[in-house]
Amino acid sequence: MVKKEYQIIAKNYDLAGRTSSDIKRRLKAEETPLTLMKRVCAASYEAEINVVIHSVGGYATYEEDDEKIILEFHDDGPGIADIHLAMTEGYSTATEVDHMNGFGAGMGLSNIKRSADLMDITSDQFGTHLKLTFFKRGRNHEHQ
Ligand SMILES: Nc1ncnc2c1ncn2[C@@H]1O[C@H](COP(=O)(O)OP(=O)(O)OP(=O)(O)O)[C@@H](O)[C@H]1O
Ligand SMILES: [Mg+2]
Repeated sequence: MVKKEYQIIAKNYDLAGRTSSDIKRRLKAEETPLTLMKRVCAASYEAEINVVIHSVGGYATYEEDDEKIILEFHDDGPGIADIHLAMTEGYSTATEVDHMNGFGAGMGLSNIKRSADLMDITSDQFGTHLKLTFFKRGRNHEHQ
């Protein structure tokens, strides 16, 4: 059982992606099957960027055991007013600065949902909590 925690700093476009890069390195070192690695990396990158550009900051945790990988993202607000709307492809409240940095297509949450086996999201004005589970079934095969 492995557990790791990462701070995520709001509005820092230079450090954005640092958490997901470290997770990617870890998965590569463990020789994680490519399909699983791609799913985890895609979701963790989108979730991390969301904390950077949409929240006041937070942290992520990475947990792994023989069966699964669990990624959690916690931030300190301002929260998502309407989760259903936020999940809609193309919906975004990203700013001009976000767009200049290549973010804000409104595709992140829907990509996360597609990539993870389980996605649990709760949010209020004090923060958003996203929990993602990836099962390692058939972990020695590329067919999953
Ligand atoms: N952690 C968060 N805190 C507050 N609002 C969020 C958070 N994550 C997502 N949102 C809201 O949900 C919307 C949709 O998120 P999503 O990731 O799908 O798109 P995006 O971040 O705007 O653009 P993209 O991910 O394509 O760069 C965001 O524009 C924002 O309004
Ligand atoms: Mg996003």
